Amino acid sequence: MSAPDEVEVERLADRVHGSGLSARLYDPFLWWGEKGGLSKKRERLLQAARGEVLEIGAGTGLNLAHYPSGLKRLVLTEPEEHKAARLLKKAKELGVEAEFVRASAEALPFDDESFDTIVATLVFCTVGEPEQAIAELRRVLRPGGCWLFIEHIRSDRPAIGRIQDRIRRPWASVADGCQCNRRTIEMIEAGGFTVELKSVADKALMPPVARPIVAGTARPG
Ligand SMILES: C[S@@+](CC[C@H](N)C(=O)[O-])C[C@H]1O[C@@H](n2cnc3c(N)ncnc32)[C@H](O)[C@@H]1O
Repeated sequence: MSAPDEVEVERLADRVHGSGLSARLYDPFLWWGEKGGLSKKRERLLQAARGEVLEIGAGTGLNLAHYPSGLKRLVLTEPEEHKAARLLKKAKELGVEAEFVRASAEALPFDDESFDTIVATLVFCTVGEPEQAIAELRRVLRPGGCWLFIEHIRSDRPAIGRIQDRIRRPWASVADGCQCNRRTIEMIEAGGFTVELKSVADKALMPPVARPIVAGTARPG
């Protein structure tokens, strides 16, 4: 595999949902969960970031304050223009030095094996073609590299899982395409990664529809 061309990168970035309103509401919507422990989870996860780091779907920049110092390179990707504008502003305010690239996870404009660490938090619920995106992450990650993730996944409590299945569509229509019943861990493993879960949280960090929240690492298997 090789890097997609510019036209493909732009075409796939253009497909990502979003609006000025949802970008504006994103941080207030997550405020309670961040205070309740999500921010701590981000901080703990990102301590493992090393070398050349690529963040996927960086959103409004809620990870920015948690990157360790001494990284060789930090590349922040975000396909949605309103969130990207907020990301840029927050990075400036925090004095974070990074490269900003408009790209979706399905088409990453980087050579094979370019990064030591990939970060994706609360992203794979929303990615349109998760299998394609996972293959892209595998392509750009170096052997021995590590993908650090936080995701909300389909509950394995049967009653909750069934509710998530039923409300998937209406939830997606108000939440920028977020699929609340996605079995993301199984998808990552099917994409050739070995997953190590560090935590599974089923408490009020997010609304019940978007729980549990898992944090962990995935390494090319
Ligand atoms: C729920 S937000 C999470 C934002 C941020 N990562 C965080 O932890 O707060 C989902 C993010 O994924 C981005 N996104 C949606 N589809 C994507 C795709 N196909 N590729 C990359 N990012 C995508 C959205 O624009 C949005 O910024």
